[in-house]
Amino acid sequence: MHQHRTPENISDHIALIITKTLRFFADTFFAKRYGHRAVVLETVAAVPGMVGGMWIHLTCLRKMQSDRGWIKILLDEAENERMHLMTFIEIAQPKWYERMIILAAQAIFWNFYFLLYVFFPRTAHRLVGYFEDEAVISYTSYYEQVSSDLTLNVDAPQIAKDYWNLPNDAKLLDVIKVVRADEQKHADVNHGRADSLDKPDRLTAIKKEPNFTKVNPVNIQSYTDANYHIYDKPLFVINIGVESSGLNKLYEKYGVNEAAVLTAYNPMSQETNDNDNKKNNKQLEIILKDQKLSYIRAEGICPDNKWPGEESFLVLGLTLNAAKDLGTKFKQNAIVWSDHSTISQLILLR
Ligand SMILES: [Fe+2]
Ligand SMILES: [Fe+2]
Repeated sequence: MHQHRTPENISDHIALIITKTLRFFADTFFAKRYGHRAVVLETVAAVPGMVGGMWIHLTCLRKMQSDRGWIKILLDEAENERMHLMTFIEIAQPKWYERMIILAAQAIFWNFYFLLYVFFPRTAHRLVGYFEDEAVISYTSYYEQVSSDLTLNVDAPQIAKDYWNLPNDAKLLDVIKVVRADEQKHADVNHGRADSLDKPDRLTAIKKEPNFTKVNPVNIQSYTDANYHIYDKPLFVINIGVESSGLNKLYEKYGVNEAAVLTAYNPMSQETNDNDNKKNNKQLEIILKDQKLSYIRAEGICPDNKWPGEESFLVLGLTLNAAKDLGTKFKQNAIVWSDHSTISQLILLR
């Protein structure tokens, strides 16, 4: 069963308590009427993205700063949730009292979420992360219900086939699957944003104004949050924006004052099969050997282990330009590079 991310502080606990309380009401009111549940809850789910997008937009106007791509991400989330609503309205028509609940819920929730977002944006994103975790759980139960009674597995509404490019003979089960995948994505985005609001200092270590990059902000976030394991003896970890005593020791040992973490894995951050990844990395290693560069095996690992680790190399004494060239040659979105300060920077290449 899908689990919630473990709360780490008071803000997380408050978000989780609100989520569990609302879940209790939803469970009591709708029980197993998942179609109706979806219609009512999707009208609420489409609110936070619009509030967050709007607030970031206004903040960027006031502070005259970049939004780092977040306005679009959040507005897209709101639109995606509205498409969930438009889809499920074809499957379950809300009763008059459900329409009343929708009106009341919107009036309360819009204002509540707006205030929460202005004063506690981290809690606001965590709350949506938890809501989306719940949505994944609910759609999983809906999926199980329809699978065990195939008379419920009606044809997919046309609007869903158009929006998700589903085949002509798609059924409700296919729709639930793609909707659940959307909810999972929203959970990742919102939990990720809540995490990043904890450590804004790391973002200052990104070189290249992220507003002018073609790299997806969600990817930038995961490169920034990743742990770069350096398989020296003993192993140590490099993080973006953080000084590293392990790296300092290697600088002294090799008599250098710069280093880069490079990989040839997953060009453009498109998941690539293991064989191709290993082949590309072998080529990178051959180049390092040809250029007589000292390197140590490394691995870029997502803190929540959502992606398989990427085998990499810590290359010692590599200038920024040489590191960029190698990253570009192997079609990487970004590389990690550290100067004499041993503070690692994320260098975007596109
Ligand atoms: Fe949704
Ligand atoms: Fe959602």
